[in-house]
Amino acid sequence: MDLNIKTNDKDHLDIGGADALDLVEEFGSPIYAIDEVRIRENYNKFYNSFSKYYPDFKVFYACKANTNLAVMKILESEGCCVDTVSPGEVYISRKLGFSPDRILFTGNNITDEELKMVHDMGVILNIDSVSALNRLSEVVNPKGFKISFRVNPMVGAGHHEHTITGGVMSKFGIMDNEASEVYAMAKDLGFDPIGMHSHIGSGILDPEPFKLAIGSTMDIAGKVHEDTGIDFEFVDFGGGVGVPYTPEEKALDLDHFASENISFFKEKLSEYNMGKPTMYLEPGRYLVADAVTLLVKVNSVKQSYRKFIGVNAGFNTLLRPSMYDSYHHIVDASKMSAPITQEVDVAGNVCESGDLFARDRPLPDVEEGDVLGILNAGAYGFTMASNYNSRPLPAEVLVNNGEATLVRKAQTFDDLLEGQIIPEHLE
Ligand code: LLP
Repeated sequence: MDLNIKTNDKDHLDIGGADALDLVEEFGSPIYAIDEVRIRENYNKFYNSFSKYYPDFKVFYACKANTNLAVMKILESEGCCVDTVSPGEVYISRKLGFSPDRILFTGNNITDEELKMVHDMGVILNIDSVSALNRLSEVVNPKGFKISFRVNPMVGAGHHEHTITGGVMSKFGIMDNEASEVYAMAKDLGFDPIGMHSHIGSGILDPEPFKLAIGSTMDIAGKVHEDTGIDFEFVDFGGGVGVPYTPEEKALDLDHFASENISFFKEKLSEYNMGKPTMYLEPGRYLVADAVTLLVKVNSVKQSYRKFIGVNAGFNTLLRPSMYDSYHHIVDASKMSAPITQEVDVAGNVCESGDLFARDRPLPDVEEGDVLGILNAGAYGFTMASNYNSRPLPAEVLVNNGEATLVRKAQTFDDLLEGQIIPEHLE
């Protein structure tokens, strides 16, 4: 099994050297528990796999996956760069010490004010449309400003329809067949277009679509180079590398994946005489997914027409199972080696029938008071959590070789009132 699961000598779930039950005892639940060492391992494995075949290589962490400051600081300290999609993410990155040259902005449908704000912070933009290009040229001085375009490589893939970002149905990027014209337009406006970006989707374990996307993006870049004389400083193939969520899924063989794709990339560079642009990749999920476990407590065991294990979190805490029907492996952290005895539904505490973490899930004899570990919660877990049902957001704790530190306090009820104003006539 390629899932990141460890058991300690008390038969409890181990998270980075800490006992999951101790974490819940000390910090409460639900709680997102982050394993620092695992993030560092994931980053180094990813970076080294590619850079050994092509040293002009940079990783831009797609921070929408997890913007916890400690998580981002860990990646910053490893030398990772960051891919952002909103001025807020740029702001967080700058505050944390990422210099502007280590930040990419890949927003879509952004306002003039946002374009200007990101430009003024000195960050490179992956422009998503002709509209954004024209509007940017009106709000900033284009003279010599380095930009890049996101193109639609007409290849898309993803674990769910909502996460496919290439092809005719996609709202992202400029069309493949208008690329040369758009790059020429940017030059005419005075910009210095030096990069090309594509991103085909998220949660992909099959290497094939990546190869197709590299081929197609390089064909677009090659044609732009031939038609406009632009020498690309970087080509960015986005993120999307999946991780196993079920015990049956196999992790991508990253070394093999990197070696095949880099050879193909190099072939395309020489086919189009494109020199040696830096290769960028933007993994989000790969770096953080399996480094975080959501720990919840069992409130109630209920035998209705089905058997429900009721826990103290819901889709307000982890949305993926409800939103994408995503599988998240669940273990009974209180008795890791207990035999599987039943297939049950694991239900949250939100007032909707769709609030389920799992249906018909093989589990041991789970009892009220047990702590469950919901695995692979590091990517798009906390960042997609909400206050639905007026439940405060949970705490996050960082574990580093057994040492646990609170890195985000749980919200309080007063936080739920924050920012709201009751008008005078209702007082
Ligand atoms: N680059 C761009 C431009 C992106 O839009 C994304 C993800 C990434 C990189 C990182 O993709 P990753 O390596 O994490 O697959 N909420 C969904 C995933 C949405 C991904 C959106 N874009 C989920 O929970 O599965």
